[in-house]
Amino acid sequence: MFQARTEDITVEHKPVAFGDLRGWIAALKAQGELHEIDAEVDWNIELGTIMRLAQGPGTGKALLFNNIKDYNTAQSRCRRIFGSALNNYRRIAMMLGLPPDTHPRELVKLGRTILNGSIAPKVVPTGPVKQNVLKGADVDLYEFPAPHWNRLDGGRYLLTFGGCVTKDPETGVMNVGVYRGMLAGHDRIPILMWRAQHIGHHVTAWQQGGNAEMPVAVAIGWEPELGFCAGAPVPKGVCEYDVMGAIRGAPVELIKCETVDLYVPASAEIVIEGYLGLDPATYEMEGPYAEFTGYLAGDRSPKPAIRVTAITHRDDPILRGTIEGALPGSYSENAVCSSIMRAATAWNVLDRAGVPGITDVWCAPVHAGINLLIRMKQSYRNQAKQAANAIWGSSAAHVRYKHITVVDDDIDIHDYAAVDWAIAHRVNAGENDVIIMPSTFGMGIDPSMRKRDRNPTLFGTGKWNRVLIDATQNLDYDPDPDYGGARFPPTVWPQADDIAKAYARWSELGLGKPKGE
Ligand SMILES: Cc1cc2nc3c(=O)[nH]c(=O)nc-3n(C[C@H](O)[C@H](O)[C@H](O)COP(=O)(O)O)c2cc1C
Repeated sequence: MFQARTEDITVEHKPVAFGDLRGWIAALKAQGELHEIDAEVDWNIELGTIMRLAQGPGTGKALLFNNIKDYNTAQSRCRRIFGSALNNYRRIAMMLGLPPDTHPRELVKLGRTILNGSIAPKVVPTGPVKQNVLKGADVDLYEFPAPHWNRLDGGRYLLTFGGCVTKDPETGVMNVGVYRGMLAGHDRIPILMWRAQHIGHHVTAWQQGGNAEMPVAVAIGWEPELGFCAGAPVPKGVCEYDVMGAIRGAPVELIKCETVDLYVPASAEIVIEGYLGLDPATYEMEGPYAEFTGYLAGDRSPKPAIRVTAITHRDDPILRGTIEGALPGSYSENAVCSSIMRAATAWNVLDRAGVPGITDVWCAPVHAGINLLIRMKQSYRNQAKQAANAIWGSSAAHVRYKHITVVDDDIDIHDYAAVDWAIAHRVNAGENDVIIMPSTFGMGIDPSMRKRDRNPTLFGTGKWNRVLIDATQNLDYDPDPDYGGARFPPTVWPQADDIAKAYARWSELGLGKPKGE
């Protein structure tokens, strides 16, 4: 049993190793968290539409599509697609070895420590992912039922939640990240990546070493920690495999790739190996794609492409996919995972910067960490600005935390109404409660930027004007003797003894049971 100590709360969890994607699916089934679809579903628009509609605001079940049009004969290489697993807090709690009804606040607290855990992976000589090995002319990506997820997407996206493995050419440390990848030929997958991402750092390092290509392997379909960690802000230089091992309480068993010097989980469903072209002459057209913002994004343009040199896969492999883009009423896996991990990361940044008094941090799931909520016990004026500066000065802010709202400790940041109330009554823009930090780095696919500022090749990052809303009581105001020395008047919420008296008569007044009974 590990103990993650944060503030005054201990979050206990019992690591679970599911073994592989199939073990995870079996665990979901046993918990009533899986819905299998046996009726034929078209990979072209229909599957994505069903997934988007079924996921709901974190309320849908994980989905296993067992019968995909054009991929449902005995000869079909890949016949099933699994998704919608991590867009729900119950299932994230299951993955983390916590009771399914654990409050997201506790998930954030555990999230603060899980990326620091480390259990080194173990290299094994063989594993199920080598049951089928395809090289050369046998490589045909169209044998996999990559969905055309959304009608407006630029093509079929095979890479949506796979772990893209690359390595630092100097240290040899591997990085595993999630990057979208579209089919552009039987052996070509252009991807969207940014220079400020860790894969981008690797690209720069391989280029500076005079290489025209960078080895890459994408592992698709394994235990849930694969996508969770690959899509999470694991610090630079830390290998996601170590973190995945710590979450599951056992080393990840890795196996060497066939054609590149990289390692992938030995029981992954599918592995795509190859080389990412670094010379713009080799770029392939990619995009647009329904992005995590809930908008079409990452415009159609030439992007670096993987030249696939080998595919290995298990017998009867399951393609792990996800539908990107959260909207009100439909939360993606990225959005729900980000609500935990982007909040946890921001909290750690605040701690490391020495900002005192932080009692809760949260990113609501619908926007995947673009808006950050901080709850604090202020002890000196302008503490909220210190918090915002710390967050925006960290590299974790590259694609997140455009808007920061800071509230006092009496406001529950998991309650929209409470936060809105604080903004309504504690914010005075004329007293520097609203601060704009102009022209910072930012998330390059934000639709609120001018189109030219969304060009990854030209700028390497987006251009964000960030905003702090300081909705705390302003400690720059004078204490008021009329308010007992407080800066703000008392709220109209009744006193404890008046509440007790009222509740004592509750039943007599025909109002039912008193609250809390
Ligand atoms: C489902 C999903 C899709 C993602 N797609 C992309 C993408 O296409 N390009 C990108 O740069 N980041 C994408 N991300 C975000 C990165 O995976 C994330 O920022 C991660 O921290 C990157 O790893 P790195 O920092 O080790 O490079 C995606 C994340 C998820 C969960």
